[in-house]
Amino acid sequence: MSHGAGIRRTSGLRAASRGATGKVLVLVAHPAMNRSRVNRALADAIVGMDGVTVHDLYEAYPDFDIDVQHEKELLLAHPIIVWQHPFYWYSTPAILKEWQDLVLEFGWAYGPGGTALHGKTFLQAITTGGPDSAYVEGGYNRYTMRQLLAPIDQTMHLCGVRSLPPFLLHGSHRLGEAEIDAGAGRYRSVIEALRDGTMAAEPHAANGA
Ligand SMILES: Cc1cc2nc3c(=O)[nH]c(=O)nc-3n(C[C@H](O)[C@H](O)[C@H](O)COP(=O)(O)O)c2cc1C
Repeated sequence: MSHGAGIRRTSGLRAASRGATGKVLVLVAHPAMNRSRVNRALADAIVGMDGVTVHDLYEAYPDFDIDVQHEKELLLAHPIIVWQHPFYWYSTPAILKEWQDLVLEFGWAYGPGGTALHGKTFLQAITTGGPDSAYVEGGYNRYTMRQLLAPIDQTMHLCGVRSLPPFLLHGSHRLGEAEIDAGAGRYRSVIEALRDGTMAAEPHAANGA
């Protein structure tokens, strides 16, 4: 599978992330970044920031052959973990599921002696096709984002990781360039605040939480 032609900002990030340390680790997961409008803009907005490691999982592992040791080292080297991805079937793109299944090992991330991630902070940055009005009881998606993200929140909880409210950009297909730019600017501010420890309690409902 090849999707790398349009990945301007993340080329070579796997190499760049080798040995990386910083405050914020952003795992980007989009299976066709060359066709992305919104996630590409979000990633562009944060690549190169001091203290922020951006790691494109589909670029690093086009065959899903995840380097578990490398992923663990990246996690250990950063106190704040971000997943940035489009919402796919009310969840993550597949590689983030594979990443969870392989990296969050019993005895390392949870279970007896599984304390590697204790005390870390977690944020999901998600773009959705559906509008914010769909993600309410009575909307066509019937559930709120927070309800739909409960399994991931619990996964992090079991690993001793504190989840923040998600950063959301809804209605992605209808967003114009100016709105995407504004969303990317808000995203950069959130990542900066995470890095600098200046995040307010519920700060980043982008266009609906
Ligand atoms: C396989 C697939 C599943 C999707 N599932 C959802 C979904 O469950 N809810 C939703 O709101 N949008 C869904 N979408 C729309 C994507 O979230 C949307 O295309 C994406 O946020 C756009 O971001 P991009 O410009 O970075 O590609 C899905 C799209 C695809 C291709």
